[in-house]
Amino acid sequence: MSRKTIQVTEQEMAEQREAARRVREIEDRPKSYFIVTYGCQMNAHDSEILAGMMDEMGMTPAAAREEAELILFNTCCIRDNAERKALGNMTWLKELKRQNPRLVLCACGCMIQQPRMAKVILRQYPFFDIAFGTHNLHKFPSILERALETRRQVISIEETDGCIAEGLPCSSESKITSYLSIMYGCNNFCSYCIVPYVRGRERSRSEDDILREAERLLEGGTQEIMLLGQNVNSYGNDRDDGATFPGLIRRLDALGVPRLRFMTSHPKDLSEELIEAMASSKHCAHHFHLPVQSGSDAILKAMNRIYDRETYLRRVESLRKAMPHIALTTDIIVGFPGETDADFEDTLSLVERVRYDSAYTFVYSPREGTRAAAMPNPVPQEVSSERIARLIETQERISAEVLAGLVGSEQRVLVEEVSKRDARQVAGKCTRNITINFDGDESLIGSFARVRVTAAGHNTLKAELVSAEDKEAPEWP
Ligand code: SAH
Ligand code: SF4
Ligand code: F3S
Repeated sequence: MSRKTIQVTEQEMAEQREAARRVREIEDRPKSYFIVTYGCQMNAHDSEILAGMMDEMGMTPAAAREEAELILFNTCCIRDNAERKALGNMTWLKELKRQNPRLVLCACGCMIQQPRMAKVILRQYPFFDIAFGTHNLHKFPSILERALETRRQVISIEETDGCIAEGLPCSSESKITSYLSIMYGCNNFCSYCIVPYVRGRERSRSEDDILREAERLLEGGTQEIMLLGQNVNSYGNDRDDGATFPGLIRRLDALGVPRLRFMTSHPKDLSEELIEAMASSKHCAHHFHLPVQSGSDAILKAMNRIYDRETYLRRVESLRKAMPHIALTTDIIVGFPGETDADFEDTLSLVERVRYDSAYTFVYSPREGTRAAAMPNPVPQEVSSERIARLIETQERISAEVLAGLVGSEQRVLVEEVSKRDARQVAGKCTRNITINFDGDESLIGSFARVRVTAAGHNTLKAELVSAEDKEAPEWP
């Protein structure tokens, strides 16, 4: 492994397990917890790990925050509204703390990792007990122990480029689909983005550690694994053992993970080798999330995205050539500093050209410390609002057309739950990552089914059962 990546030693991990044991023995420790999670899948997975640690510390999950003796806010700072939402909800806890002074309130995650933020939060929210950042998640047991023993506010932030901690516990709600982190951090420094500042540099786990975790998940009954990383295509670049993302896909495919997904991919490192590894795999889903951010070369350049419009479109073409039925989804930002009407039209025309299944669309939000925050020519709020409305309208029309085009087709669905709207139906996702509802009972949950699509709804499909499907059946018919 290259010197850049620091693996937390087994001894440090043992110290944390020891701290967890000591917390279990503290008589008036919290007995129940509730986690409020903001942000992306990485944060959701971090919350599963924090829940696993609290289970080990002898706590159980509470059904509602009012019933919990410890409340943890796992925050996000990707856009201003993500921060404001968390801060607004944190304010409400003052009353709960007044009613129960032994309630332990913690804040962690990306927002807290920003410079000075932990101090500011604990000053402005003096009823909070603990603030810790993203780089010392694995030290939560000792942080909590310190707070419980001293009954004083504890701040724990580490200013590093990050590390890798193996062997953490994980409590996952769904055993049917599971997250698996393959790498942490990001080196790309897109000019608008805060992630590299709060998640550190790219560091990849070893293939063997990933494979072992995948095996454990399969033993636990997982049917679908979502590989996580801010930029999974650059998996292995920081290692010197030859590990690559296509190589990892091939090994996981051979292991027999019934369905494999991954996110997120940066278009600049989407290689032919990866496309080939996916196309020749048995278990990779027919879905690729490929954030484009803008359709304008000038804006892509100012965003430091490294690729241009033509390169992006060529990669889309390669994906569709190798896998004609692949679903594409994306992320788009409007109102980036200096974005003209013509730049925005380029984004709209790219969306028309690619015909994504769906897109996450955002209004640019300046983030302190990023390069774009200091760029001239901000786009007025009214202009951004109008642009995003047009973009959403365009994408919704295309999404509806894509869904309508699937009526009559057969799809392979991993059944995950009883339908929210109709208890006689079950729901699951097809390979394209679209939710499909069909008549069926609970016994189907956790298995694959072949269905025929009968109607398109808003973002979802209706279908009828054709047959139960073997989990060994290939994703690519
Ligand atoms: N690593 C992933 C996801 C990063 S965050 C990737 O590179 O695609 C998810 C999305 O949030 C980004 O793709 C981008 O579209 C959006 N985003 C990030 N920073 C933003 C900002 N400052 N303002 C608005 N949207 C932003
Ligand atoms: Fe942010 Fe860009 Fe890294 Fe994605 S690739 S996390 S958008 S800096
Ligand atoms: Fe937000 Fe951090 Fe994810 S900033 S989007 S939670 S990596």
